[in-house]
Amino acid sequence: MSKITAIAHSNLAFVKYWGKRSPELNLPLNGSISMNLSSATTTTSVEFHDALSTDIVTVDEHEAAPDFARRVTKHMDRIRALAGQSAYAYIHTSNSFPAGTGFASSASGMAALTLAAVHAIGLSMEERALTVLARLGSGSACRSIPGGFVEWLAGDTTDKSYAVQIAPPEHWDILDIAVVVTEETKMISSSLGHQLALQSPFWQSRYLMMPERLDRVRTALLNRDFPLFGREIETEAISMHAVAMTSPHTYDQGWHSGIYYWSPDTMALINAVQRWRTNGLPVFFTLDAGPTVHLICPADQQEAVIGAVRELEQQQGNQQWSIVVSRPAPGAHLL
Ligand code: DP6
Repeated sequence: MSKITAIAHSNLAFVKYWGKRSPELNLPLNGSISMNLSSATTTTSVEFHDALSTDIVTVDEHEAAPDFARRVTKHMDRIRALAGQSAYAYIHTSNSFPAGTGFASSASGMAALTLAAVHAIGLSMEERALTVLARLGSGSACRSIPGGFVEWLAGDTTDKSYAVQIAPPEHWDILDIAVVVTEETKMISSSLGHQLALQSPFWQSRYLMMPERLDRVRTALLNRDFPLFGREIETEAISMHAVAMTSPHTYDQGWHSGIYYWSPDTMALINAVQRWRTNGLPVFFTLDAGPTVHLICPADQQEAVIGAVRELEQQQGNQQWSIVVSRPAPGAHLL
């Protein structure tokens, strides 16, 4: 069988997936809306070989960490089962960004793996079925299959939980200016965070306001209404973190009252964004399960926003933050 290579972009959620109805199937409590990120990609090649007795997984030319290799093989098993085949494969993957820096590598990784493996094994699947399959590998990965701006419909069964494009990448020239304030990896993974969300006394109020939130974000996006869009996505990010911060758990044998994904630099940026807006800069923030602050602004504000970030960085004592700028990007595709 031939070697197939696919590339997928990571995505940034404007309405977040936080909490699962089914952890086995990655069925989310609520729908979500995202944008594919031009600067964060995973490239994966898959080549089946009858002589192999296990999958051989490499990341950037090195043997993959055991946890990662297990997750890949589990996903490959799903694809083998669908195709009724048993051959193992060589799987090479590389990311354009370091892991643990606030970009969901599992999103681009599972989307690229799904597309490459499905083609390498000879299955023919529509986009919707590909999103369902990618979702089983990692929930947010389903949103990296379609291009541009994407909505994942929550659904209550596996076939009804899929992602669709709501607008192509060229619909709206907005940017994600990601400010990576630390490269330390987080203590609580998103997968664990999803489980703990149900411990929060506030998850239900977030859940109940979700249908309206999704409508408002989708409408603002389709109308290119930046002020409305910005207010919605910023309050939405804080609502996800409010649930995380009120999710008690035991970690490393110690009891914690909640998960704090933020660092002091995250907080400095959150405060600064509100000041910058008061001074007329059109910029809002969103935050995933980590300290990286994603600044969202119209593309023509890129220089002004980066200038403001660099000034703040100096005031904070020259922290050497890294900045990654992304435009809306296409969906997963074969190379
Ligand atoms: C905060 O998709 O990484 O980025 O389904 O367990 O793999 P699993 O979780 P994952 O969760 C992403 C959480 C988030 C919000 C989002 O991307 O919607």
